[in-house]
Parts: sequence; structure tokens; C-alpha cells
Amino acid sequence: MIVGLDHVQLAMPPGGEDEAREFYGRLLNLPEIEKPEPLKARGGCWFAGDGVQIHLGVQQDFVPAKKAHPAFLVADLDALCQKLAAAGFSVKLDYMVPDRQRGHVHDPFGNRLEFIQDSDGFQQRMEEGTDMSGDFRTELREYLDGLVGERPSELQKMEAYAQEHNFPIVGPASGQYCYQVARMIGAQRVFELGSGYGYSTAWFARAVQKNGGGEVYHVVWEEKLTRMARQHLSALGFDDLVQYRTGEAVGILRQTAGPFDLIFNDIDKEGYPDSLPVIEEKLRPGGVLIIDNMIWNGRVWDDNNHDEATEGIREFTRRITTSPNWITSLVPIRDGLIVAYKV
Ligand SMILES: C[S@@+](CC[C@H](N)C(=O)[O-])C[C@H]1O[C@@H](n2cnc3c(N)ncnc32)[C@H](O)[C@@H]1O
Repeated sequence: MIVGLDHVQLAMPPGGEDEAREFYGRLLNLPEIEKPEPLKARGGCWFAGDGVQIHLGVQQDFVPAKKAHPAFLVADLDALCQKLAAAGFSVKLDYMVPDRQRGHVHDPFGNRLEFIQDSDGFQQRMEEGTDMSGDFRTELREYLDGLVGERPSELQKMEAYAQEHNFPIVGPASGQYCYQVARMIGAQRVFELGSGYGYSTAWFARAVQKNGGGEVYHVVWEEKLTRMARQHLSALGFDDLVQYRTGEAVGILRQTAGPFDLIFNDIDKEGYPDSLPVIEEKLRPGGVLIIDNMIWNGRVWDDNNHDEATEGIREFTRRITTSPNWITSLVPIRDGLIVAYKV
């Protein structure tokens, strides 16, 4: 008799291990487990999370599974979609099964995967989305974005891309706020951690250009996003201002000579606490740190939520608001910006 499901096997082409680790390990947060010794020579890699085991096996004449797929239960489909979208994987959402929100995505090899939001969380989100506070939040965001002046057409193209691909950019109101702070302190050296395809970078580059010139570091770990950013920022006339670095942002900041006038942080939220000492070292006294997603769509005050990203934001907030080295406010534009002045 069958007593349970041990694992699901998916195929991948030869040499795909690094891509598999990036997608299943880092993005889906499934730790890699060691393959048994006799199977190692075949290549591939295995991942296991709570009650889930996925084996990626090498298939010489690989063909992606476009229809057959594993379906993973997830606690927070919105957060996962944002993380995947930011890494260039677009998730198609549907509501065709009652009480369940589902998302479909293709892994880097073209295999289809499904994610299902647990029904309680889904129900709660549906209720949140239809109550007054949900409407109020949407209306407030639209109102604030509407106050931002006319933008160059290239910047508008970047906004349209985010809308179409569900890519989490800071948006016009936060962008304008970043621009304003950078102008107010006369920033000429800006370092960005987690730059996406350069939308937030564009706002800082506009400010630095107006401040008389300088440099803005665009740092992200996806090669594709660096390429996209180069095109957009070049079209906006920032070739002489922007320094591009592809890789892990906190490590790159550690290796880059400071001091900076302004540092902007928008990396994966679980990485926030460890970024603080490096930022503190590289920012000049009187410099400003801006860090995004500090409201995290309300998850920060949801006592039932203890996922790694939410805990990362809570821990970062606790450290910076209790440190004597910073004067800090949380500005509730969009998903919340912490703006902190280094004493
Ligand atoms: C939220 S998006 C950035 C959006 C961008 N700030 C904007 O508003 O236009 C974050 C990006 O940083 C990348 N990222 C996350 N953690 C990172 C890290 N530690 N180092 C480098 N890139 C990272 C993500 O994969 C994603 O492409």
C-alpha cells in the first residue's frame, strides 16, 4: 500500500545544476540535500523543504514538461510572485478553483510548476482586499502617484513594464521621494543595493545629475537586469553617471570604497539585518539610508507571520530604531520607506 509521497522528479538538461540551485534553492528557498554517493556521478541536484522533496535529474535529450507539473502549497503567494518576478520569472495567476489562489510559472528549463496559496491565507487576503482599508490603500497609492509630475517617456516605459510583468519597482511616489531626499542633501555618491532594471536608479541619477554630477552604483545579481538597466539608463542620458556591478549587493558594497552620501537598499528582505553594519560603515556622517518595503503589505504587524523575509524586516527595524547612530522615521509611502539619517 502507498503510505505517502517521497519525492517528485523533474528533468533538466546536462549542466543545468547552477541554474537549478539559483531557482529551487535561492528563489524557492528549498535547501539542497546531498545526493546518495552512487547517484552523484549522474549529475543533477536534490532539494527538500517542509514535506517536499524535488529531485532534478539530468536527461540527455531533455524536453521540458509543459503540462505535467508538481503543485506546491505556499503561505504567501504574493511575496513569492514578487520575488520570482524580480528575478525575471513571470507568474500567471488564476482564480478558477474556488477558495484557492493559484500561480503557474516555468522553471529555468521550461518545466511547469504550480503554487497554491493555502485557503485560509487566501480567504483572509480576499477579505482584506475587499474591505474599506484595501480600497483606501489603493486609492491613496493612486493619489500619491498622481501628484508626481510628468516623467520622461523612458521612465514611463519602465513603469509600464513593471505593471505588465508584475515586477516590484518602487513606483513614482517613492521614486520622487528618493529624488527629493537626494536633492535635499546634495548627494553626489549614491549606492543602490538591489537595483532591478534601473527604475529606482533613474531617480537617483536624475538627482545626482542636478546636484552637479557624481556616481550612482547600480547593483543586482541578475545579468539580464543589468543589461536592461544599461539600455534604459543610457536612453535617459545617464551613461557618465552610473556604475554597473552584477553580483551580491552587500558583498559588493563591502568591497567598494566609501564614503557615500546616500545608500538605498531594496534587496531580498531576509538579507536586510546583515546589510546594516556594512551600510553604516560606508555612509558618511550626515548621510541618508533609504530602505524599501518596511511595511511589507502589513505582514510586519501580523503576529501569525514568521516567514524569513518578514522577520528580516522586523529585525532590521528593531536594530535601526534602537541604535544611537541613526535618526529614523518610517515614511508610509506605498510599501513603506525607512529614511534614516546617520548621526
Ligand atoms: C525589488 S527588486 C528592485 C527594484 C528596484 N529597486 C526598483 O525600484 O526599480 C530587487 C532586485 O534585487 C535583486 N536582489 C535581491 N537580493 C539581492 C542581493 N542580495 N544582491 C543583489 N541583488 C539582489 C532581486 O533579484 C531583484 O532583481
